[in-house]
Amino acid sequence: MPLKPFLKLCCLVCFLSSCALGSADKKNEDIDSTAYVALGKALFFETAWSNQGTISCAHCHRPALAYSDTLRVAGGNTKNVPARNIPSLLGVGQKQHLNWDGGVHTLEEQALIPLHADGDFGLPPAKALERLKGKPYLQDLNGPLDLKTAMVALAKFQETLQAPKPILDEDYQIGLEWFQQNQCHSCHSGSGWTDGKFHRLPGIEPGPDLGRYRITGLPQDSFAFRTPALNTSWLSPPFLHDGQAQNLNEVMRAHGFEISPTEREILQRFLQRIAGIADGKRP
Ligand code: HEC
Ligand code: HEC
Repeated sequence: MPLKPFLKLCCLVCFLSSCALGSADKKNEDIDSTAYVALGKALFFETAWSNQGTISCAHCHRPALAYSDTLRVAGGNTKNVPARNIPSLLGVGQKQHLNWDGGVHTLEEQALIPLHADGDFGLPPAKALERLKGKPYLQDLNGPLDLKTAMVALAKFQETLQAPKPILDEDYQIGLEWFQQNQCHSCHSGSGWTDGKFHRLPGIEPGPDLGRYRITGLPQDSFAFRTPALNTSWLSPPFLHDGQAQNLNEVMRAHGFEISPTEREILQRFLQRIAGIADGKRP
C-alpha cells in the first residue's frame, strides 16, 4: 500500500509538530522578526543537526546554486521519502504546495522532514537541540531553543529568499510568444510560472515514485508531479522531479514533443530571462 509509508510520515510530522510546536516557550515568540530571520539563517547553515555533524540544510540547498544543487536526486534515505531533485528555495515563500507531490503545506512542517530521526540528518531533533546549547547565535533568545522556535525561524529565513527578477527584453518577448503559441502557459502560469497543480507528463515512465498519488491515493494522480516554478529552472539543472532531463530537448521530450535547435535556443533564452540572467547573443 503506497499510502501507508506516507501516512506514517504524516503521523510522525503531526506528532512532532503537536508535541514540539505545542510546548513552545512563549517568551521566544516575543523576539522580533529580524532576530528570527538571523536565527533561521544560522540554523540553516548549522551542521550540528546531522548525526555526523557534517550536513546542514545548505549542504543540499546551496546558496550559490539558487539554494538547490546540481545533483540528479537527493534524500530518499528512508523508504517513506523518495529520492528527488532538489527544488530551488528562491521564492519558496510564495509556493502553494511544497515538495514535488505537494504533501507539505508550510515551511515549518517541511523542515521537520530532514530533521526527524530517520531523515537526512539521522538524528532525533531533541538530541540536536541539546547539541546546539551555548551556540552564540542563540544569545538573543528569551529561553532555550525549542523545536517550534527553530522551525519558525527556519521558515522566516526561507521566506526572505526572493524569487529572481525577470529581465523583460526582446528575448523575453520572443520567448513569451513561443511559450503561449505552444500552450505552455496552460500549466506554467501564475506566480513563478506554475499553476500550483499536479500533472503527469506523457513522457514520464512509471517508476518507483508514485508522485501525487502518494498523497491523494487517486489513480489519476499516479506519476503526477507539481508543475515546477520555471523562474528558477535554469538556475538548478538537471530538470524534472527525478532530475532525469539533463537538457531542454529531454525536458520537452518528457512533455511529448520534439523542439528544433532554434526553438531550444528561444526557450533557453526565455528561461534565462525569467531567472534574471542577461546574456547577449541571439541565434
Ligand atoms: C540531503 C539533502 C537535503 C537536505 C539536508 C535538506 N533538504 Fe530540503 N529538500 C531536499 C529534496 C530532495 C527536496 C524535495 C523533496 C520532495 O519533493 O519530496 C527538498 C525540499 C525542500 C523544500 C520544499 C521546496 C519546494 O519547492 O517545494 C523546502 C522548503 C526545504 N527542502 C527546506 C529544507 C530545510 C529548511 C532543510 C534543513 C532543515 C533542508 N531542506 C534540508 C533535499 C534536502
Ligand atoms: C499539462 C501541464 C504542462 C504543460 C502544458 C507544460 N508543462 Fe512543463 N512541466 C509540467 C510538469 C508537471 C512538469 C514536471 C514533471 C515531472 O517532473 O515529472 C514540467 C516541467 C517543465 C520543465 C522543467 C522544470 C524544472 O525545473 O525541472 C520545463 C523547463 C518546462 N516544464 C517547460 C515547459 C514548456 C516550455 C512548455 C510548453 C512547450 C510546457 N512546459 C508545457 C507541466 C506542464
